Amino acid sequence: MKEADMNRSGEKEISRRTFVDWVIKGGLLVALAGVLYPALSYLRPVMRRGAISEMEEVGGVNDIPVWGGKKVIIGGSAVLIIRTPDAFKAFSAVCTHLGCLVDWDGQKREIICPCHAGIFDLNGRNISGPPPRPLPVYTVSVINNKIFVKV
Ligand code: FES
Repeated sequence: MKEADMNRSGEKEISRRTFVDWVIKGGLLVALAGVLYPALSYLRPVMRRGAISEMEEVGGVNDIPVWGGKKVIIGGSAVLIIRTPDAFKAFSAVCTHLGCLVDWDGQKREIICPCHAGIFDLNGRNISGPPPRPLPVYTVSVINNKIFVKV
């Protein structure tokens, strides 16, 4: 009889321990989820952007005349698109000097920075003024008369 009570009492103690273990484990899981969920939610747009491969439609080919240019925002980045007789080109529209937005001068066929007279050529190379390096170049694709840019 006494042994049975001890067993019963032992079982109760084990089940209390088990209960406390489950409460602790459950609390840890909830805390972990509370940390991981916001972190993953924060990263999800970044991961999604990478997976889509960044091709973004920026308009039709007829939206930009030959030797014309157009500035667009892609994923928060300012992009300058230029149409030559042979192709479309895309560059970061942010000057590599102090970050002003550059403009396309179709007459001179140069990319100019209005802030400190920086000049870039048709390949984005810094050819005059204070900009220390070329403009980043982006990939352009034309599909079904629509222009896509990968930033
Ligand atoms: S910011 Fe472009 S030349 Fe200075």
